[in-house]
Amino acid sequence: MTTVIKNGTIVTHDLTYAADVLIDGETIIEIGENLEGDEVLDATGCYVMPGGIDPHTHLEMPFMGTYSSDDFDSGTRAALAGGTTMVVDFALPQPGQGLLDALKTWDNKSARAHCDYSFHMAVTWWSEQVFDEMKTVIEQYGINSFKHFMAYKGALMVQDDEMYASFQRLAELGAIALVHAENGDVVADLSARLLREGNDGPEGHAYSRPPQVEGEATNRAIMIADMAGVPLYVVHVSCEQSHEAIRRARQAGMRVWGEPLIQHLTLDESEYFNEDWDHSARRVMSPPFRDEKHQDSLWAGLQSGSLSCVATDHCAFTTEQKRTGIGDFTKIPNGTGGLEDRMPMLWTYGVGTGRLTPNEFVAVTSTNSAKILNCYPKKGAILVGSDADIVVLDPEKEKTISAKTQESSIDYNVFEGKHVKGLPRYVLSRGRVMVDDGVLKPSEGHGRFVKRRPQGEVNRALTSWKDMTKPRPVERSGIPASGV
Ligand code: URP
Ligand code: ZN
Ligand code: ZN
Ligand code: ZN
Repeated sequence: MTTVIKNGTIVTHDLTYAADVLIDGETIIEIGENLEGDEVLDATGCYVMPGGIDPHTHLEMPFMGTYSSDDFDSGTRAALAGGTTMVVDFALPQPGQGLLDALKTWDNKSARAHCDYSFHMAVTWWSEQVFDEMKTVIEQYGINSFKHFMAYKGALMVQDDEMYASFQRLAELGAIALVHAENGDVVADLSARLLREGNDGPEGHAYSRPPQVEGEATNRAIMIADMAGVPLYVVHVSCEQSHEAIRRARQAGMRVWGEPLIQHLTLDESEYFNEDWDHSARRVMSPPFRDEKHQDSLWAGLQSGSLSCVATDHCAFTTEQKRTGIGDFTKIPNGTGGLEDRMPMLWTYGVGTGRLTPNEFVAVTSTNSAKILNCYPKKGAILVGSDADIVVLDPEKEKTISAKTQESSIDYNVFEGKHVKGLPRYVLSRGRVMVDDGVLKPSEGHGRFVKRRPQGEVNRALTSWKDMTKPRPVERSGIPASGV
């Protein structure tokens, strides 16, 4: 059975042109004029783009004494409703737990997914077992990216020596390192002091994690990665201090990517000073929302290329779960939602304002992630042979974001009341129409795991460079006699 998307304008990361797209089963088989198919989807007035890839989600994640509320069912329904056709979640071993053991748990959870997905592996502790299992995770399971938490002291945080050992192992195996960059020691100390001084509300969360803790950790991770010879991807870059470290490193030729979140691009720290405790606690995440001035830096980074991918870090907790932290902000589960809203919010506040071109929009919502994570052009592309993960975006379709109409299972939305323009008319996941004329038609279990091979282009280039510039003994003709 073939499907043709007719009369639209194809927008990829590098081209904009009028053409039809013909799909056979799960794959794009032809792009051209006047194509015919069994089923016709009319894209008149619309942009036909690669489906969104959210490179950073936490579905049904065990965290801070509870589980994030959206699982692979509600989470991937939310993703599709907003035009995202692939999510990359984190398999998270508890400290002491093996990587392969953790993967089994994530495999079970993800069986419900409505769209395709992949995993990053997290390194939450270090041992010979972790060292050994990394090879299996990469070579047998097809996971080539490993996350390190520099924060959450006493829980997920790793020390510099563990991070350096892990980074070296990743370099050797051709994988990439990810970091949550915040100085966990400083955060722990600031938090304790704030609590002692009676600052126990959600605003204390923002005070405990100033931009300096992120800037310092980002720079530290970059330098450690460079010494280990591994490409580095910094998740949830929220401020100028962190962006500045990334920008500087890139200009010095280091292999570093930065990922801002749609939340940090569009929401600011005033949310934590709301008189309603629930309102503020619902927005507690790490890093916290920042002073508005940081938003200009993040937008400029997307425009100039110093920041590469827009994610959500979707990790949604209900108001009830957030209330665990009444009287002690350090117990508020960290995380916010955004899966359904990332694409419309970025289109509205990025393309709608002229900060991004439609091609740049595709790059930062889809193609760059596929390239960095090494699943391009299977994903992130409108090309013959690519998976038919496609969003047909109607630039005139609009709505006001509301928790009442969302797919996410939580009882609020951090973007509540935002008016967005530019919504999916159709969303296809491997050829299957999942949003049909704006209506979600979910299909539990349709999603498949996307394997991502190691030794991507950047790994190979960096390895060559590090090999060429590594220390070598100087060849000397005559060596003076030792001793007297
Ligand atoms: O607050 C956040 N970001 N929660 C999710 C876990 C993480 O740090 O990415
Ligand atoms: Zn994080
Ligand atoms: Zn995260
Ligand atoms: Zn309007």
